[in-house]
Amino acid sequence: MKFLIKNGRVIDPANQIDDIRNIFVADGFIADSDSIASSDQDVKVIDAEGLIVTPGFIDMHVHLREPGQEYKEDITTGSWAAAAGGFTAVCCMPNTDPVIDNHVVASFIKERARKSALVKVFPVGAITKNLEGEKLSEIAGLVSAGCVAISDDGNPVKKANMMRNGLEYAKMFDLPVLSHCEEENLSSGGLMHEGLYSFIYGLKGIPAAAEAIMVGRDISLARLTGSRLHICHISAAESVDLVRQAKKEGLPVTCEVTPHHLALSDKIIGDYDGNTKVNPPLRGQDHIDALIAAVKDGTIDCIATDHAPHHIESKDCEFQMASFGISGLETAVAVCMDMVNRGVLELKRVIEMFTLNPANILRLNGGALNAGMPADITVIDLKLKKTVDVASFYSKGKNNPFHKKELTGWPVLTMVNGKIAAQNGKIII
Ligand code: DOR
Repeated sequence: MKFLIKNGRVIDPANQIDDIRNIFVADGFIADSDSIASSDQDVKVIDAEGLIVTPGFIDMHVHLREPGQEYKEDITTGSWAAAAGGFTAVCCMPNTDPVIDNHVVASFIKERARKSALVKVFPVGAITKNLEGEKLSEIAGLVSAGCVAISDDGNPVKKANMMRNGLEYAKMFDLPVLSHCEEENLSSGGLMHEGLYSFIYGLKGIPAAAEAIMVGRDISLARLTGSRLHICHISAAESVDLVRQAKKEGLPVTCEVTPHHLALSDKIIGDYDGNTKVNPPLRGQDHIDALIAAVKDGTIDCIATDHAPHHIESKDCEFQMASFGISGLETAVAVCMDMVNRGVLELKRVIEMFTLNPANILRLNGGALNAGMPADITVIDLKLKKTVDVASFYSKGKNNPFHKKELTGWPVLTMVNGKIAAQNGKIII
């Protein structure tokens, strides 16, 4: 199958391109302009005039829940949500049941994805067995089965020596270690960000220091080991200061932020909607301002959803009882593009954070539009307005705090390996 994506504004940060161009696709790969003539009978022309054409968006942090919690999500529905949301690849976290802590579970995921996923699925293996923080998992086996990183996400690795061992082991395979930074002695029992609003709403708080303390510890360990450390879902001003400092020092430290931590503050928890409950918690405006500044100056490398689908019963309940997490795959791009339209974020930077940077951190063959690379492409209509309706989600998780919000700027085409996976928010199987 051949495609000509015509007259779009092509933004390809890897090649410093921001230009009106055509993109050619032949047999699953990006092709040279002279290899296809638009008069070819078998070329499908996609008119991208007025649209933005970018390398396929990569979400390096999702929870697909399979195996073990398929009532929340499975690899197929998660991949549908990803495609509809503009993503061509996702990395799935190991807090499944059983945990991805050995090659058998990792191979199972790769195989399920190969058979039924609409986008590329890269498993993330656990740092420790069963995420218990006591023994290292079979990291060599995880790598051979296709894991692109290791993480105990959902849990912090409590013991510093265990984290050190994980970092040292990961270094042998050039793997990044994705760290969920949380000092549980401070966060335990907390329901939202500790600050003015936790006081007003009468909910136990989680101080920003619970994150920053662990970010500081892990940066020290990255310094000690020389291993690649990536901080998951960074949310606190002090944490970004630490990462900024580490980068200045030349340490191999990167980090990601979620769209919800950029767009929403702790104030909205006032109606006690369980869909606003997430870990780390939505922070105060001072933290949001620090996150946005860190996006602008390059301290934060990636935007990732932390897509955490939950069953309605664990969300439509008392705030205290609700599970932590937001089902974000189908709103992430629109939330960020809406912030671009409002002048809060810069378009090219957002695209780089969803494409080139995660590809570099995970050493993926993607994130750019060079001829010969797999044709993973996202097309965005920056002017399209739509109102979020969780009822139309492909994800089983309807837990999303942007429900009923109008957002401007949506993905309109997702192409994976030269095949259209979704168009105008609808998947194509
Ligand atoms: O809110 C969250 N939900 N944060 C995490 O770190 C884990 C995730 C989940 O698995 O539900």
